[in-house]
Amino acid sequence: MNDRFLRACRREPVDATPVWFMRQAGRYMDSYRAIRDRHSLLDICRHPELAAQVTLQPVDAIEVDAAILFSDLLLPLAPMGIAFDFVEGEGPVIEAPIRSVDRIDSLHQFDPREALGHVLDTIRILRTELTDRVPLIGFAGAPFTLASYAIEGGPSTNYARTKSLMYEEPEAWHRLADRLATVTTDYLISQIEAGVQAVQLFDSWVGTLSAADYREFALPHTLKIFASIQHFDVPTLHFGTGTATLLPDMRKAGGDVIGLDWRMPLDEGWAKIGEDRAVQGNLDPTLLLGPEHRMLQAARNVLQRAKGRPGHIFNLGHGILPMTDLTQVQNLARFVHQQTS
Ligand code: CP3
Repeated sequence: MNDRFLRACRREPVDATPVWFMRQAGRYMDSYRAIRDRHSLLDICRHPELAAQVTLQPVDAIEVDAAILFSDLLLPLAPMGIAFDFVEGEGPVIEAPIRSVDRIDSLHQFDPREALGHVLDTIRILRTELTDRVPLIGFAGAPFTLASYAIEGGPSTNYARTKSLMYEEPEAWHRLADRLATVTTDYLISQIEAGVQAVQLFDSWVGTLSAADYREFALPHTLKIFASIQHFDVPTLHFGTGTATLLPDMRKAGGDVIGLDWRMPLDEGWAKIGEDRAVQGNLDPTLLLGPEHRMLQAARNVLQRAKGRPGHIFNLGHGILPMTDLTQVQNLARFVHQQTS
């Protein structure tokens, strides 16, 4: 198997810098849109054969060194009693967002092997189909990011309701975050048992918090998740955006690999995290929309800042944008391999 990605997670030497892309399966690919024309996003997630097929599309089309399970961050909310749907052009919409403390106390715990068994079936199919190719990454959401969807009801710019709950009802906030941490821990363990070879915890929107608020409201819960999965022999990745001031605390919360967005040069971010951890990142996804020479120049800059040190996984600072041209993604992955081998 191509194990560059797993070796880099462990900061072992590699024959070329591993590369994969957040949202590498998705609307920018014709092959994905062909399936989406006939099935909703949730249909794809709930049908293991379809989800496995979509997961493999970028592995076949692009020189990526890892596959990421096709699923969505929000799936565990439904069995907790937080129903949602994806609305075309709007993204996720929570049917009844959390607006009371009573609601928090009535959320369900559940066994992911039952409620999310279809995700675990997808993993089993993929491990069979991926044999001797690339490792499979599983994922789940961190408590802050999951709570923000459950409370705001969808995407947000200022997270005002989420922060208001923290400040006005800190005990209720901690009970909610603790429930979400338990759900995410159980879910990640079930994914590891089903066969994923690495797990990424997405705390995509945590950068809206000050460092002091991160330490008080997010860190203890994220720490609990990483501490509970540490004993599995599976590398862990910890990702967020807008996290320049949070990196030392994210490192404390856990993760063998810390994700970096594009707002800070890779070497500066790595210095804040410490060289005893691996890093993943950090090209601005918007660069893939522009001229190829500018994209490759910026990619070269990322690689120069990594200086060939063990423990760099090349990725974007956030997901591939839907209007991206597939050939740009293909050229970028090839370029990273050529420059580093
Ligand atoms: O290739 C991959 O990266 C795997 C698949 C994946 C999806 N969602 C499929 C998806 C992953 C890893 C996610 C995680 C996810 N979902 C996150 C964390 C990652 C991040 O981007 O920060 C978040 C915040 C979500 C919630 C979510 N799902 C939003 C906000 C949206 C709408 C935004 C958009 O791009 O439309 C989704 C929808 C979603 N999840 C799509 C895909 C491919 C859009 C595609 C569609 O409608 O077909």
